[in-house]
Order: sequence, then C-alpha cells, then structure tokens
Amino acid sequence: MEKKERIVIVTGAAQGIGFAIAKAFVENGDWVAIADIKVEAAEKAAAQLGNAKGYKVDLTLEEDIKRFVEQVVAEKGTVDVVVNNAGLQYISTVEDFPLDKWNQLLRVILTGTFLMTKYTLPIFKAKNKGRIINISSTHGQIADPFKSAYVAAKFGVEGFTKTVALENAQTGITANTIMPGPVRTQLIENQIAKLAAEDGTSEQEAMEKHILGKQPMKRLLEPFEVGATAVFLASEGANAITGTSLNVSGGMLA
Ligand SMILES: NC(=O)c1ccc[n+]([C@@H]2O[C@H](COP(=O)([O-])OP(=O)(O)OC[C@H]3O[C@@H](n4cnc5c(N)ncnc54)[C@H](O)[C@@H]3O)[C@@H](O)[C@H]2O)c1
Repeated sequence: MEKKERIVIVTGAAQGIGFAIAKAFVENGDWVAIADIKVEAAEKAAAQLGNAKGYKVDLTLEEDIKRFVEQVVAEKGTVDVVVNNAGLQYISTVEDFPLDKWNQLLRVILTGTFLMTKYTLPIFKAKNKGRIINISSTHGQIADPFKSAYVAAKFGVEGFTKTVALENAQTGITANTIMPGPVRTQLIENQIAKLAAEDGTSEQEAMEKHILGKQPMKRLLEPFEVGATAVFLASEGANAITGTSLNVSGGMLA
C-alpha cells in the first residue's frame, strides 16, 4: 500500500530539536511546515530538508498563529500533525526574574502551544483524526533552581496536553508530550555560563551539577533521538496512546 504524505507543522524548527523533528518527518515521507520567528533560518532549514517550507510565525502573537494555520490549509489542504516545539530558557533567581522574561517564556511555551492547538483542533475534528505532540521537558515533572518560568511553563504544558487528550479521547485525535532530558542544542549551550555564574562555579562544574550529574546515561542526548519519538507518536501504531508523557531522557525520571 502506498503511504500517504502527511502535512506536519513543527514550531521552532529552524534549528535544534525542532529541526531534527522536521527532518525525521521528511525522512518518513511527510511534508513539513517549519514555523519559526527566525524566517531566514526557517527557509534555509526547509531548503535543506526538501519536502518542507519555512514560515515566519511569532508564537507570542495570536494573529500570526491563526494566519499561519490558514495559510498552510490554503496551500496544502489540511494539517495532520502538529508538533509544538518552540521554546526558550532564561536563568535567574525568582527575586531577580524580570517580568518581561517571565511573560515571554510563558507566552511562547504555554500560550503558544494552547493557541496552535486551538487553531488546528477544528481541522482535526472535521476529519476525526489528528496528532498533537507537545515538546515538554523533564522539567515538566521535576524542577531545577533558576528556571522558574521554564519549569512553570513546562508543568503547564503537561497539564494542558492531558486536558486536550481527555476532551478528544473518543475521536481519532491524540495529544501527548515528549519530555526530553538535556539535548545537545544551543538552548543548553547558552545556559551553562549563567548557571555557573549563579552558582559561583566553573562552567564544567555547572554542566556536571545541573546537566550531566542528573542524567544516568551521563551524556547529552542527540536531537534525532527526540525526532524519532515524535514520528512514532504520530504513527498508526500509537493510536491508543493519548494523555501520555514520553520521557526521552536517558533514564532521568526512572
Ligand atoms: N535542549 C534541551 O536540552 C531540551 C531539553 C528538554 C526540552 N527541550 C525543549 O525542546 C524545545 C526545542 O529546544 P531546542 O533545544 O531545540 O532550542 P533552540 O533554542 O535550539 O530552538 C528553539 C527554536 O524556537 C524558536 N522560537 C523561540 N521563540 C519563538 C517565537 N516567539 N515564535 C516562534 N519561534 C520561536 C527559535 O527561533 C528556535 O529556532 C523547547 O521547547 C525546549 O524547551 C530542550
């Protein structure tokens, strides 16, 4: 039987884990809309992948998300899978945490996931089929110092996803999260210096204390290891998996 190409949205896919997820879907025979605030990087990523297109979307803007989903439907006819992946980190103690940074993290990670889900659900409901995959983190289940907004947003994504799963459990729509442990991307590389400064230690000590020390496999995960999990959750074999958080963390939550 010939496999049908699916239309997949991946947010924050210009680089890092999102790019690896987009690559995994393209390699699976699907077409991917790469939604990112960095439009040039998104277009470059799409050109590199082939069966993909880059779009400028600022996930803090409801109008941007609505217009983007309408554009994908106008160009490709439907949406089959949405992967809410975009995110960012900010390191600070709670008392020094700037409100604008708090709001930005919550708006991208939590509200962006809500809005993208809100505007794709009617498409899924109309055909009684769809996949929502939210990239959370082990920080959706365990906290870490200096990451209050990130941890709060990721716990929120966990609760939001389970609600979406229950609201749609009797349809062909599933909603799940992937909880990666530390993955080799810029998001991790950028935070080591600040963690070291907060602790008053070297970057190597910060890496050991905050990142590798908590990871039983003692290695950074590779982005493709998250991509492969996303393709699995979007497969027919995962039809009965909903409201689940798949931990891809080298054993961190064991
Ligand atoms: N790297 C890790 O160790 C790790 C671990 C667990 C979870 N995660 C999660 O995986 C996801 C991807 O992380 P990553 O490490 O690839 O990060 P990254 O910083 O490499 O990539 C994040 C992408 O999101 C995009 N983005 C940020 N704000 C946006 C906005 N307002 N609108 C649209 N796009 C926006 C960025 O432009 C970038 O392309 C995030 O949700 C992150 O929290 C990462």
